Amino acid sequence: LKLAILISGRGSNMKALLEAARDPSFPAKPVLVLSNRPDAKGLETAADEGIPTAAIDHKTFGKDREAFERAMNEHLETAGVEIIALAGFMRVLTPWFVNTWEGRMINIHPSLLPKYKGLDTHQRAIDAGDAEAGCTVHWVSPGVDDGEIIQQASVPILPGDTADALANRILPVEHALYPEALAKACESIKARA
Ligand code: GRF
Repeated sequence: LKLAILISGRGSNMKALLEAARDPSFPAKPVLVLSNRPDAKGLETAADEGIPTAAIDHKTFGKDREAFERAMNEHLETAGVEIIALAGFMRVLTPWFVNTWEGRMINIHPSLLPKYKGLDTHQRAIDAGDAEAGCTVHWVSPGVDDGEIIQQASVPILPGDTADALANRILPVEHALYPEALAKACESIKARA
């Protein structure tokens, strides 16, 4: 399936997906990396990997979220995209965009959903005294971080952990989980077709 990865920043999860997709037997082929921030570091990484990139600056659309999304959608359609992976994409999507891509868009979130939707997940898990934290790949539905779970992985929270230390423990686990979960999502789309 033709894959678009949507990013806003560093793009380390994007990189993990691009690396997995170098294997010709991987079920998703990256055709586009799209960022809402023109200065996203991940855009350079993608270009270095030879993947077409586009930057669509949401700020140029003012408060009109749908106009921004329609601009993104044109790029996605032109590239023939069949599945979208959100990877650190920091814009909330409208119901219009989510419905347009329903069942064809996934996201990675750094918590054991349904716990800690939204931001600051690592600190919230530490503050709650949880023994474990982790990451989740899920289908995107209109509620933020709310869709059906595809796969999760957990790590221990250690005494004295800071949010940064915990994030650094979870990130490599995200990089291993996301390609696996994306492959699973592709299989489920193919099975549906
Ligand atoms: C990751 O922790 C991801 O789970 C969250 O945002 C972060 C993005 O990091 N949604 P990167 O851009 O993939 O390096």
